[in-house]
Amino acid sequence: MTRWALIGITALGLSGLLAAVKLDPSETDAAAATGSIERGRYLVKIGGCNDCHTPGYLEKAGDVPEDRWLIGDSLGFNGPWGTTYPTNLRQLLRTMGEDDWVRAARTVETRPPMPWFNLRAMTEADLRAIYRYVLSLPADDTPVPDYVPPDRPPKTPHIVFVPQAPKR
Ligand code: HEC
Repeated sequence: MTRWALIGITALGLSGLLAAVKLDPSETDAAAATGSIERGRYLVKIGGCNDCHTPGYLEKAGDVPEDRWLIGDSLGFNGPWGTTYPTNLRQLLRTMGEDDWVRAARTVETRPPMPWFNLRAMTEADLRAIYRYVLSLPADDTPVPDYVPPDRPPKTPHIVFVPQAPKR
């Protein structure tokens, strides 16, 4: 077999593979549409917001109905900063306008493990898309426990976030 025939066969195989993994174009177009609700949904999903702000999302590998998304969590994160609880974002974002949200996302600095710096790295259009998506979900006022300072033990289940050195 000549070298060119081999290259040809490899290229055919590759294009077959690419065709097989092609996504539904309607879905990808909607997620790419700047500032759209569908893009907000996509960003919330891939940006990790559900991982902490949706109860059980990590444990169930994302298999949580959308009507439970972003309602906050009473599973705390405990570390040297005390114990923090992921905010109910549906409730929080309803207390502010879209411009206020963009400003807040650019200035907020929370305790760990919220990656507040990732909000600053988002484009304004993406922040607006997230806002529109969150407001498209039904209002939800599920309460989230208050922050507990380091000198007090948390009264809820919590994950301890303390780096451990390997024993020698
Ligand atoms: C690793 C877990 C984690 C991830 C991932 C995460 N958050 Fe958070 N988030 C938290 C925790 C915990 C708090 C509460 C921090 C505190 O009490 O200081 C918080 C707080 C916030 C706040 C501040 C609320 C306030 O009261 O001002 C906003 C806004 C927020 N998160 C949005 C998001 C968005 C949007 C995403 C996805 C891009 C996200 N979070 C991803 C854990 C997380």
